[in-house]
Amino acid sequence: MAARKPIYVTQPELPPLEEFLPYLRQIWDARLLTNSGPFHQMFEAALCEHLGVKHISLFTNATIALVTALQSLRITGEVITTPYSFVATAHSLMWNGIKPVFVDVDPVTLNMDAARIEAAITPQTTAIMPIHCYGTPCDVEAIQRVADNYNLKIIYDAAHAFGVRREEGGMLRSVLNHGDLSVLSFHATKVFNTFEGGAIISPDAKTKQRIDHLKNFGFVDETTVVATGINGKMSEFNAALGLVQLKHVDDAIARRGAVEARYRAQLGEVQGLRMLQRDAGMTPNHSYFPVLLGPGYALGRDGLYKRLREEGVMARRYFYPLISDFPMYRNLPSADPALLPVARAAADQVLCLPIYPALADADVDRIAAIVRSGASRRSTAAAPVSPPALAIVD
Ligand SMILES: Cc1ncc(COP(=O)(O)O)c(C=O)c1O
Repeated sequence: MAARKPIYVTQPELPPLEEFLPYLRQIWDARLLTNSGPFHQMFEAALCEHLGVKHISLFTNATIALVTALQSLRITGEVITTPYSFVATAHSLMWNGIKPVFVDVDPVTLNMDAARIEAAITPQTTAIMPIHCYGTPCDVEAIQRVADNYNLKIIYDAAHAFGVRREEGGMLRSVLNHGDLSVLSFHATKVFNTFEGGAIISPDAKTKQRIDHLKNFGFVDETTVVATGINGKMSEFNAALGLVQLKHVDDAIARRGAVEARYRAQLGEVQGLRMLQRDAGMTPNHSYFPVLLGPGYALGRDGLYKRLREEGVMARRYFYPLISDFPMYRNLPSADPALLPVARAAADQVLCLPIYPALADADVDRIAAIVRSGASRRSTAAAPVSPPALAIVD
């Protein structure tokens, strides 16, 4: 029998190649490859329309966009952030010489616990950097109230939140309109990809202009440099691809929704397994499908992780280890594990199951069956695998 192909946590979406080829032809003919070319401009306009935001600046990736967002608001000193994220969130602070201050997450959403922000504020605090983890909106109102009280800026790491909307005043509005800036990632593994890419959403044209200068070395015109900018520009190749990808993203998100619904229908009654619930008034993007495997789950999180691998299913432990456990952060006072019990429990229990549009129903069923089998003591003949040392496995 032919060996089964491994199933990864995601499979990047690509449009039919024939749809992209005419765009490539245009790039070849025009010889305009970067520096805010025609596709770049068209893609910015199309994204504003699609996402329901006013101003957007395209970037090479979200990490450079986060670094630039902090620069654009002249953030210094200390920034309150979450340990339960991809490491780029905190790295973007370090690249600006800013000290991250970690606060624990909310047990229901796994987003920054807004009630814990105030206690972490010091005279050096200038901003808050939360993430909409797995695309679940943060408690944006509560975070804004704290920011207003203490005159702090908010930069949302919205890498997971492409297309996510919330009901506000009887209307569905993009979650990206909250805070001072939001940063999206268009990395290959995201709901919407341009191979590599990212963007900053700004509330006004002046802020966008400053960001556009910063991503182009600080150049305003041929001879004027107004800031120590960086090269964060998205190329015409990526922008053209984004235009084509945009035509398919709604269908892709709908299919992800069907995959999620199929998992949920099969995993609802599994002992010791918790799925994240979400508010009725939001439009999700189904970017991830995390499950939390608590003490009542017989096989344990790492036992299931291993069993799935043996079956060719590469589920991922996003986000384990916590950012605050990495060597460059672990000595910060706010990285003390005793201060982050909820994030720590989540990191020890979480497993993101594969979710992507091309995932076949039969594979969802097979994965769900493996997960269910791990809940029963009878099927766990092998001794449960003890949690590995804090290290990235792959
Ligand atoms: C929460 C979060 N922030 C930032 C990033 C960095 O994005 P990029 O790879 O586009 O730099 C990612 C993922 O890659 C992420 O998941």
